[in-house]
Amino acid sequence: MASDIAFRVNGIERRIAIEESVPLIHVLRNELDLKATRFGCGEEQCGACMVLLDGQPAYACTLIVGEAAGRSIETAEVLADGAHPLRAAFLEEQAGQCGYCLSGILLSAKALLDRTASPTRAEIIAALEPHLCRCGAQGRMVRAVERAAASLRNEVAA
Ligand code: FES
Ligand code: FES
Repeated sequence: MASDIAFRVNGIERRIAIEESVPLIHVLRNELDLKATRFGCGEEQCGACMVLLDGQPAYACTLIVGEAAGRSIETAEVLADGAHPLRAAFLEEQAGQCGYCLSGILLSAKALLDRTASPTRAEIIAALEPHLCRCGAQGRMVRAVERAAASLRNEVAA
C-alpha cells in the first residue's frame, strides 16, 4: 500500500505517494527524474548508487524510501552548478574515464570534505574504499580530492 513520504532532496522538499519498501534509487531515478545516481550491483558491493543521507554516505540500492522519510538526501546533482571545487578538481586531474562510478565517488568525497578540509591521504583512500572503479582511476581520484581540499583551504585554485 502506498504511503505519503516526505523528504528533502538537494535542498528541495519532495513528497511522494509510494510503497515504503521501494529502494530509494528507484524513487530518485524514476519518480524524481534524478538520473545521476547509478545502479551497479544492487548489493552494497560497488558504491555506484551512493547518496548522502543526512550527510553520511548511504547505498541507495538497498535503502528503502520509507527509511528516508523526514531526512535530507544529496545526490550528485547537488554538485552540478560547480560551486563545490570537487567537480573542477576531478576534471583537472582527469579523474575518471567512463564516469559510471563517479556520482557515488564524488558524494563520498563530499561527505569527507564536509567533515574536514584537511583530510590525510589515508582518510581519502578510506572514504573511497566502498567504491569500485573498473577503469582504474583511483589514484587520480585521490589526487583530485586532495586538490579539492586544497581549494577549500584556498591554497590552490581547483
Ligand atoms: S548498486 Fe548499490 S552498491 Fe552497487
Ligand atoms: S571511471 Fe569508469 S568505472 Fe570509474
